[in-house]
Amino acid sequence: MAATLAALTNQQVRLAARPSGLPKPGDWQLTEEPVAEPGPGGIVVQTLAISLDPAMRGWMNEGKSYIKPVELGAVMRAGGIGRIIASSNPAFAVGDVVSAGTGVQQYLSVPAAELKRAGVFKIDLRLGSVHQWLNVLGMPGMTAYFGLMDIGQPKAGETLLISGAAGAVGQTAGQLARIKGLRAVGIAGGPAKCEFVVKELGFDACIDYKAPAPAGVPRWDPVRAGLKEHCANGIDIYFDNVGGDILDAALARLNRKARVIICGAISQYNNEGGAVAGPKNYLSLLMNRARMEGLVVFDYAERFPQAVMEMAAYLKDARMKSREDVVRGTPADFPATLLKLFRGENFGKLVLEFAPA
Ligand SMILES: NC(=O)c1ccc[n+]([C@@H]2O[C@H](COP(=O)([O-])OP(=O)(O)OC[C@H]3O[C@@H](n4cnc5c(N)ncnc54)[C@H](OP(=O)(O)O)[C@@H]3O)[C@@H](O)[C@H]2O)c1
Repeated sequence: MAATLAALTNQQVRLAARPSGLPKPGDWQLTEEPVAEPGPGGIVVQTLAISLDPAMRGWMNEGKSYIKPVELGAVMRAGGIGRIIASSNPAFAVGDVVSAGTGVQQYLSVPAAELKRAGVFKIDLRLGSVHQWLNVLGMPGMTAYFGLMDIGQPKAGETLLISGAAGAVGQTAGQLARIKGLRAVGIAGGPAKCEFVVKELGFDACIDYKAPAPAGVPRWDPVRAGLKEHCANGIDIYFDNVGGDILDAALARLNRKARVIICGAISQYNNEGGAVAGPKNYLSLLMNRARMEGLVVFDYAERFPQAVMEMAAYLKDARMKSREDVVRGTPADFPATLLKLFRGENFGKLVLEFAPA
């Protein structure tokens, strides 16, 4: 195995500096090295595709979080799907396709003792494509599922509002809410995304938070206007992916006993100096006996297999659609591609593909 592996070059992206604001090209370092021999019981995975996530921005920061920061000089953390190209472990055969914490690199060499830490598990491509395993059946889909089902406690007939509605978590959470009998109202940037959310995904409505002011309306707030129209009877569940002003607008329209799922706050991730704008309208929680709860998807890891089977069934009977935005390239394309998330340039789950399945 060693001679063949040593002939392969592993292109990698490492974190070179901790960014302030949006990551810059100089915050990254592109390196190449031979593929390491994993030793007895180990495996080597060729990365087929990686998931590009808003959370990556947080992982670049120093400080306490739900997961350790990526160390300076380390290969950037990323979840991915890969194919086993070498194995001396009876649980994995050459050719098996696995999900793993591949990092932003073309090959991952995992010694036997590291298999659990690297989160390697076989995936079944009959349940969904490689891209869907990074989306509905992967981390974003699990976030949507457990955020809605465990924290949201949905009841048929209720109204769910979700921001980032055309994105990875948003598209799945909104469709799942529809499957469970709720009204789903999305918020997304631009008419194309809003049309997709309603016409393709079957949401009841979508608010374009970037909509320009109609003629003659001086103090225009498209979110407040949209909520007045589409959540006239209030919001029972708000699934928050963006934070900031949109969170405040949603808080102002909560119903009694509403649940607010704090999934993410992408509008705040690139603030210079790291300051996060807090909600001004939080007393709405008091008035409405409502609650707001944070979500970390990894807490639900033991229940992923059960949720994957439910979501795969929805994909199969076409009740659940998935849209991935697949960029084909190499690790060198990672720094620029990641920025699409923060500019709203991704349309669906953002995936960087290194090799076809
Ligand atoms: N808590 C957890 O365990 C967990 C797990 C996964 C993801 N998340 C969070 O879930 C959220 C969505 O993640 P995702 O992977 O599904 O990403 P995504 O929605 O596929 O992509 C990010 C989208 O965010 C929107 N956006 C960017 N900047 C914005 C801004 N300033 N204001 C409002 N919207 C903005 C853009 O959509 P528009 O074009 O519509 O603006 C962009 O396409 C993120 O906050 C992420 O951190 C949390």
